[in-house]
Amino acid sequence: MDPQSGNGRIGQRLVCLTQTQSTNADAFQLAEEGAPEGTVVMADAQTAGKGRRGRVWSSPEGVNLYCSVLLRPLIMPHEAPQLTFLSAVAVARAIEKTTTLAPEIKWPNDVLITGRKVAGLLNEMSAETDGINFVILGIGVNLNMTADQFPDDLRHPATSLLLESGSKVVRTSFADIMLQELDTLYTDFLTFGFAPVRQEWQRRCNANGRRVVVCEAGTEVASGMFAGIDEDGALLLQTGKGTTERIVSGDVMVI
Ligand code: BTN
Repeated sequence: MDPQSGNGRIGQRLVCLTQTQSTNADAFQLAEEGAPEGTVVMADAQTAGKGRRGRVWSSPEGVNLYCSVLLRPLIMPHEAPQLTFLSAVAVARAIEKTTTLAPEIKWPNDVLITGRKVAGLLNEMSAETDGINFVILGIGVNLNMTADQFPDDLRHPATSLLLESGSKVVRTSFADIMLQELDTLYTDFLTFGFAPVRQEWQRRCNANGRRVVVCEAGTEVASGMFAGIDEDGALLLQTGKGTTERIVSGDVMVI
């Protein structure tokens, strides 16, 4: 099974904005208006950047990558979460190609450098029961953010590539490389399915060989040895009772 190079699908239409509320909201609207697969929306700043679980994504001007990619895959709605794993791997590959840092991925889809979050991904979709209309992959990467630009009330430690490496990242180069990697991964996904990206995601996961604890609203709901992810991207835990527990949501801590 040879990895494909991308076919230039992603980024064929590029919308660059100085400031917007949320590139995900813009891409969603463009998708509803019929924009083609591969349309990318990028902004210098977001005034209402959306994080997962209704959180705010801090999006100061001119320092980071805020981007949303419109895809129209012929897959079933329950398979859509698989696409977020593509974004995580694309971001990790782009970090490796543009810095000397060693990114890791934390389930479901945070990208970490030395345990601190450097990128977050927000997958949104429009679907019917029997198929997907479109998926928006929202990708936020802290590139050149300085310590004083992070909000005080962050729930988990966060960082930027600049803070970790001491060197500024050229935003356009990073975006270009990341989108090329995403294009390649998406072509592979359409050709070979989820298996290759799942394998690479697992190799890059911060929980390999480790015990993890899963919390919901601050309360521990499960714990066990990390045993990979399944075909739907659910987290698998080997429990002390010899069973495998399947986790579909929650905050994961490696212990
Ligand atoms: C998370 O909570 O980890 C997900 C953060 C996703 C942020 C990105 S920035 C570009 C895109 N537009 C948004 O409003 N959110 C995503």
